[in-house]
Amino acid sequence: MERTIGQSILSQGGKEVSERFPMRPFPLQLRLPVCRHWKPVKKVRTNGQINKLDPQDRAFHDWYRFVLSFPPHLVRDYIEDFNLDERHRILDPFCGTGTTLVESKLHGIQGIGLEANPFAHFASSVKVDWKLDPDVLTTRARDIANATLDFLQTQGIDGNQPFDGDIEDLPLRTLDDKTSRLLIKHSISPLPLHKVLVLLDCLKKHRDEPYYRHGLLALANALVFSISNLRFGPEIGVGKRKEDAPVVASWLSEIDKIAHDLRLVAGSYPDSDVFLADARHLSELVAPDSVDAVITSPPYPNEKDYTRMTRLESVLLGFIRSKAELRAFKKNFVRSNTRGVYKDDDDDVWIARHAGIERIADKIEKRRVSLGKTSGFEKLYGRVTRLYFGGMARHLADLRTVLRPGAQLAYVVGDQASYLRVMIRTGQLLTEIAQALGYEFVRTDLFRTRFSTATKEQLREEVVVLRWPGQER
Ligand SMILES: C[S@@+](CC[C@H](N)C(=O)[O-])C[C@H]1O[C@@H](n2cnc3c(N)ncnc32)[C@H](O)[C@@H]1O
Repeated sequence: MERTIGQSILSQGGKEVSERFPMRPFPLQLRLPVCRHWKPVKKVRTNGQINKLDPQDRAFHDWYRFVLSFPPHLVRDYIEDFNLDERHRILDPFCGTGTTLVESKLHGIQGIGLEANPFAHFASSVKVDWKLDPDVLTTRARDIANATLDFLQTQGIDGNQPFDGDIEDLPLRTLDDKTSRLLIKHSISPLPLHKVLVLLDCLKKHRDEPYYRHGLLALANALVFSISNLRFGPEIGVGKRKEDAPVVASWLSEIDKIAHDLRLVAGSYPDSDVFLADARHLSELVAPDSVDAVITSPPYPNEKDYTRMTRLESVLLGFIRSKAELRAFKKNFVRSNTRGVYKDDDDDVWIARHAGIERIADKIEKRRVSLGKTSGFEKLYGRVTRLYFGGMARHLADLRTVLRPGAQLAYVVGDQASYLRVMIRTGQLLTEIAQALGYEFVRTDLFRTRFSTATKEQLREEVVVLRWPGQER
């Protein structure tokens, strides 16, 4: 297949908006040529750079990404390695914010994604929706921005300037107590929150319009990376509190970024299907014998609560409205942290005869007892390890029905030592589980290593490459 590399040029994107909203000049953005025939540019990367987004990869990917995302170049490498093209179909059963789906689409390959986190699912779906007139998006967004600024003005707030009065005098909108409790404390300050809620109200008046979803995703990105007090390093936390933030200008900046990328779309691209669903039951949604390749990064057994990473945008934008809803979504996750374990969980039956996993779970439990750790969460460390690998076994067993014979799989997973420093070689254990289910092990590629200060060992993040030979299921 003939592939071409396009020419990169610097865009003046957003200039007109920055004149209207002088508070926040737009960053220059590298303009990415998008074409179906895409030449992967391989670079030598250091360990520190390897998970970063290259500037030329910003288009579409950068509409919204979270700290858990893997880099587009990784997906490109496996698309190339697996010799995939327009005739194939790629599945990402843990698609997060859609890196595999966007990259597949850029290559003209149909993608299917599943994601259990409702906000990440939304982000993925919008990131592969390129059927939108960018001029309509920017024009309508300006109308909405003006309506927001006009409303703020009636309250004595100039949305283009930092507020220098006393916020006690302002009729600020807030969240009710129940909703506030879902948020990480102080993740957003009162005045920026007020502005976001006003903008959201103005945006919601357009909820039936095709550009609404893009507007909402733009707000999520502005919210997390410009407006909130959140910082990621890589754990989510609260940093320096911003008493005020240029909410409307930040949102418009994100809108212009999206419009800019949509203007680059030339020709037709395959549609992608993205399901809000559990990868342990994917055969209910994905047709039998329909998938040629899997490129994915499942959760790791590392005590990360994946819903906390997206909590602010999930709650403010209405994707999670109550504790009960949050719990219901969590039940669709592979168990990878003790905050998401439930009494009736039974995925461990899938690995009941796996001696290696049993040994690790027992070792964790013995170490807990010897260290005198007695909290409810610590008591669950052994159990969540069994449930994690059981959940992955269940996923890999179900996956077999949708794979075409000869399908190729790349699973990015990391070693972990989060449970009382007991080493869990995730890639090695997943390989053993997959082989027991009839997959062929092809090889393991090292993606990067991270030094664990707790164990003084290198933790490997690696890509387990498998092949489905197409035998009995
Ligand atoms: C490491 S992240 C994937 C990141 C993704 N590769 C990207 O580039 O954005 C793992 C994802 O799996 C999702 N997840 C966990 N359990 C799941 C399940 N049972 N079904 C579908 N998705 C699940 C999490 O919400 C999280 O978004």
